[in-house]
Amino acid sequence: MKRSYHVNQINEDFLYKLVLGLIVPRPIGWISTVSKEGIYNIAPFSFFNAVCDEPPVFIISASDRDDGSMKDTVKNILETKEFAVNLVTEELLLPMKKTGEEFPPHVDEFKEAGLTPSEGLNIKAPLIKESPVNVECKLLDYKKVYDMHILFGEAICFHIENGIIDDKFRVDYNRLRPVGRLVGDLYVKVFGESLIKI
Ligand SMILES: Cc1cc2nc3c(=O)[nH]c(=O)nc-3n(C[C@H](O)[C@H](O)[C@H](O)COP(=O)(O)O)c2cc1C
Repeated sequence: MKRSYHVNQINEDFLYKLVLGLIVPRPIGWISTVSKEGIYNIAPFSFFNAVCDEPPVFIISASDRDDGSMKDTVKNILETKEFAVNLVTEELLLPMKKTGEEFPPHVDEFKEAGLTPSEGLNIKAPLIKESPVNVECKLLDYKKVYDMHILFGEAICFHIENGIIDDKFRVDYNRLRPVGRLVGDLYVKVFGESLIKI
């Protein structure tokens, strides 16, 4: 037996819980940017994915804040046309969560979360040194879908910690130890016992 829910007959809160609770696990794009005034910013996005591989293209989907203002990540990317995607691993969950809090635009979120910025080779946006994978991206396209800002970034350079990729270009998940997001404060590990090979 299934129960049917017409989208136009359920409230926003329930819809949010359906979409975030059912479409799982979602990868987390931990996005670092710099404002045009030079302030560093970081925020996690789980409406995030890779949508092309040649060339690699990522999408981020961001809402506005409750007061209607644009999130710093969106503002910075639209102004500077670049950003970095950093991968979240199990040991980075707490600093990642910290960067999901709302800080005013003048606050450097690296300092708030105890993270270290490192320089990219092609973009002014900082990379998160503690993350084992950083991808430098240039803004490729931008669209509004209803109230959401959809940012398309083309990857131009991957920085990957030694030992994560083997000589056949396979990722060692037990070394990368990535995490995905479910809903609310629930996350999943993608290594060890949880890996399934078919
Ligand atoms: C794991 C996680 C995933 C998130 N995913 C999204 C998302 O996909 N879209 C979004 O608009 N906000 C998302 N948020 C909330 C933003 O990270 C939050 O609004 C943040 O303060 C935005 O920061 P900024 O103003 O520095 O860009 C997420 C938060 C967490 C902790």
